[in-house]
Amino acid sequence: MTKLRSARWFEAPTRMGHTHRQRILQGGFERQDFAGKPVVAILSTWSDLNPCHAHFRERAEDVKRGVWEAGGFPVEIPVMALGEPFVKPTAMLYRSLLAIQTEESLRCHPVDGAVLMGGCDKTMPGLLLGAISMGLPSIFLPSGPMLTGRWRGQAMGSGTDTAKAFLDWKAGLMSDAEFATLEEAGARSPGHCMTMGTASTMTALADAMGWSPTGASSIPAPDSRHRHMAVRVGRRAVELIREDFRPDRLTTKAAFHNAIVTLMALGGSTNAVIHLIALARRAGLDLGLDDFDRLSRKVPVLADMRPSGRFLMEDFFEAGGMRGLLSRLTDLLDLDAMTISGRTLGAEIADAPVWSDDVIRPRNRPLRDSGGLAILRGNLAPDGAVLKVSAASPELLKHAGPALVFEGWADFAARIDTPDLPADENTVLVLRNCGPKGAPGMPEWGMMQVPKKLLERGVRDIVRLSDARMSGTHFGTVVLHAAPEAAIGGPLALIHDGDMIELDAETRTISLRVDAAELDRRRAAWRAPEPKHARGWAKIYTDRVEQADRGADLDVLGHGPASPEPEIN
Ligand code: FES
Repeated sequence: MTKLRSARWFEAPTRMGHTHRQRILQGGFERQDFAGKPVVAILSTWSDLNPCHAHFRERAEDVKRGVWEAGGFPVEIPVMALGEPFVKPTAMLYRSLLAIQTEESLRCHPVDGAVLMGGCDKTMPGLLLGAISMGLPSIFLPSGPMLTGRWRGQAMGSGTDTAKAFLDWKAGLMSDAEFATLEEAGARSPGHCMTMGTASTMTALADAMGWSPTGASSIPAPDSRHRHMAVRVGRRAVELIREDFRPDRLTTKAAFHNAIVTLMALGGSTNAVIHLIALARRAGLDLGLDDFDRLSRKVPVLADMRPSGRFLMEDFFEAGGMRGLLSRLTDLLDLDAMTISGRTLGAEIADAPVWSDDVIRPRNRPLRDSGGLAILRGNLAPDGAVLKVSAASPELLKHAGPALVFEGWADFAARIDTPDLPADENTVLVLRNCGPKGAPGMPEWGMMQVPKKLLERGVRDIVRLSDARMSGTHFGTVVLHAAPEAAIGGPLALIHDGDMIELDAETRTISLRVDAAELDRRRAAWRAPEPKHARGWAKIYTDRVEQADRGADLDVLGHGPASPEPEIN
């Protein structure tokens, strides 16, 4: 083992070295607890306002047990918890702030490596972005999915089924009291959303890219096997430091290829497109929307998981989980990619069983032959837009209809349920000024509610288009991430009510049927909306965030020369 980074703090024969040792002893540790030992930072995204991580205090103790067993010194460091349901306007506004916290918490402290504890949507990308930039040996501990929701004799999936029940309640098919009982039943244990939403997707992708023990992401949060896995993660963190196993072993082209193949086979979240591009760019790799479309055309959707299919994460785990899924994709994966175990992905999934062909479909009986996600282009999205084909209505995948434009969320909320709203089942709802800079933070407002007057007529899906994102648990014919966004003069800014919009998922196009001369006139007359923030983090974010097709990271956080180690007086 090369000299420990933490030795600069703890072994220095200086007044400040004396202080560092004194202050660790102040914490109740003895000299033999830390002297000469690898220091493992446990970066925890626990908070009372992140119920998906309610078990993280206990899991941090499990990790510590593993670190002690392996001869390391564990130190727990809290970072921003980013509980998806509570952080407004969107946790995405803070993903890069978590990345900064992760990178700088590791840089400024006497630590040699890290366990990254995350799961709820933005926590995985936030933690990994920072860990990639810092470059210390790091392992990801996925929070695991919560248990299946149970309600009125039915399995209820986070987000997906709540959204469906909400539509029924809004259409008058369910009483207030009935709907309220779902509040107790829908989320009944710690763990992230158990549909194939953003959290299940991103933790699965961390798994496929080798950042977790292979298969760890599928273990339900309350399962005792999740605790066992946490102990093993702690042990492995110490070994990673001794082996000098750094993230650049994992951030390879092969790993990102495997992540995209997995994303498509899962019918995973549209948000993964943005996060993977951001992660690759941090690592200095060139990953773009076309990489997703190319693989989308080749990779079948095998996971029959809501919102695209029928099952939930407990079913997926019992069916063989990520190891089982990956074992059915061996011809499409790069099996030589490295994993955190020090073995290749191929070695990790060799002979992995699948116990249910209903949940993890065989290759000759996929949920879809290809195309879980489609990348659209056209005069409404010259830099791309994303459509989750697997969760859309097949009859709307080729559609032309008149636009009905909303200027932002407040405008949408004020008008969508008005009885005289000029909308029918052919209408294309357009929501603009909700992109990375416009909102700011690109909230999950893209699955706009279908107007009440249409719900009452039994309509459950219409085409929707925005520069926002949508929850990975959501569904419908929803075109997202249109780039460049309206707030910087992107084409969504030029749409007028009644303009014809054409969606064709087969040809991968989203177009406005307005002639170029008229669009030029509108462009010349366009004025940028007033920025919403004059100070603080939101101002920094708005000024520096890049567009969705570049991962919506801050321009100052991109790949570059390593930042210097802190000077120690
Ligand atoms: Fe945490 Fe869905 S709210 S993962």
